[in-house]
Amino acid sequence: MIVDHVAIVVADLEQALQLYTQTLGFRQVYRETIADQGVEAVGLAAGESVVELLRPLEADSPIARFLGDAPTKLHHTAYRVDDVAAKLAELKARGVRLIDERPRKGAHGNLIAFLHPKSTGGVLIELCQRA
Ligand code: CO
Repeated sequence: MIVDHVAIVVADLEQALQLYTQTLGFRQVYRETIADQGVEAVGLAAGESVVELLRPLEADSPIARFLGDAPTKLHHTAYRVDDVAAKLAELKARGVRLIDERPRKGAHGNLIAFLHPKSTGGVLIELCQRA
């Protein structure tokens, strides 16, 4: 599995974008609101992979509480798979605890599902199938 994206929650999206695009030289590939995750997301090309900056849209959302008072925090790593549903079934059979029992829509129509950090050494892992 290749890394599809690494998602970082940021308190100040414009400041983070300034850093990543102007200073570090990343190219922006998308910017969109993902309503069901309560975030605005900006994707930055990193070769075949993407660095995704996430800004919480509401102060009391789970992702905002995750960020707390930190300026930025690594939120999840996403691995690209050909078939999320099949991978979920395979991992469930191996005893991996799932957050999403079935795939749902992520950024720009991708199908995604999260694994429970209790089963993945404390790291939030997303499986991602490109649209
Ligand atoms: Co993601």
